Amino acid sequence: MSEVYTADELIDGGGIFSRLSPPARLCVFGDPVVHSKSPVFHNAALRAADIPASYVRIHVPPEKAPAAFRALPKAGFLGVNVTIPHKAAALAAVDEADDYARRSGSVNTVVVQGDRLLGFNTDGPGLVRAIREEFSVDLRDLRVVLLGAGGGAGRAIAVQCAMESCERLVLVNRTREKAQALANELAPFFRTDRLVGPIERIQAIPLEDSALREQLAHADLVINATSVGMRRTDPPLIPPSLLTPNLMVYDTVYASGKSRLLEDAAAVGARCANGLSMLLHQGALSFEIWFNRPAPLEVMRTALHALP
Ligand code: ATR
Repeated sequence: MSEVYTADELIDGGGIFSRLSPPARLCVFGDPVVHSKSPVFHNAALRAADIPASYVRIHVPPEKAPAAFRALPKAGFLGVNVTIPHKAAALAAVDEADDYARRSGSVNTVVVQGDRLLGFNTDGPGLVRAIREEFSVDLRDLRVVLLGAGGGAGRAIAVQCAMESCERLVLVNRTREKAQALANELAPFFRTDRLVGPIERIQAIPLEDSALREQLAHADLVINATSVGMRRTDPPLIPPSLLTPNLMVYDTVYASGKSRLLEDAAAVGARCANGLSMLLHQGALSFEIWFNRPAPLEVMRTALHALP
């Protein structure tokens, strides 16, 4: 299903979606949206669960986002996923949002309830499930170094780590000030009676070799939340010499094959995984929110992995 619908088709009443067979009751908003893999695994899930609905892509330019969200109830949609660049706009558009969505400043899953829109964010909880599946460990037990804490994705992951009260969190960003502001905001989550020794449980550092080397010596998991590595020609985000075999490395980028960071990590014998598992689990959690039942995870996984 490669067809992309327009925001105007939704804003103008959305009749086109009800005429599809089965009718489109779920969708993803994005700009661009043509590459979204979500319809493939959500449609597989809907079929497997015998739900007579389909999931479509809708191209929504930023200026049309508010009207597109408002048009969802009348067009008969049950819910929508939200991708780049609309996650913050989605938070502004919903009538109510859960605690994690509010704190992370972004919504990726909307439920249409009558005329009201309810906002959730399944990215952080999806990451928790992905880490458990990939590495057989719980995020909360780990000392995490988060690369790209200044972006929207980085913020959502940092907030999840904080709400889980993970063992340690080091926020790394090219522009250190952004990471420091986030560290200050999240510091209350890390003030506990737990005996942790002389090292701060939350810290912000710049993306610089010496600071990174020092922090990686006390880390279990490195997460890349920047978009660096999307293109095969990207320079390394961090020097390969900083990576060690004891680390787990998770790259939220899921371009085909391994990103540069994962290639470097694998070369030193570190365990590594890319963002496909986070994509899968955030989608499964959206399904669970929309339908209040377990998602057919293996069906979704098979559909996702069958994509080129
Ligand atoms: P957003 O997610 O809000 O759209 P972005 O511009 O895509 O933001 O950037 C996401 C993250 O990737 C940010 O942490 C950004 O660092 P800055 O806050 O310093 O801009 C980081 N980032 C983007 N390009 C980068 C690069 N070439 N090297 C290092 N970090 C980079």
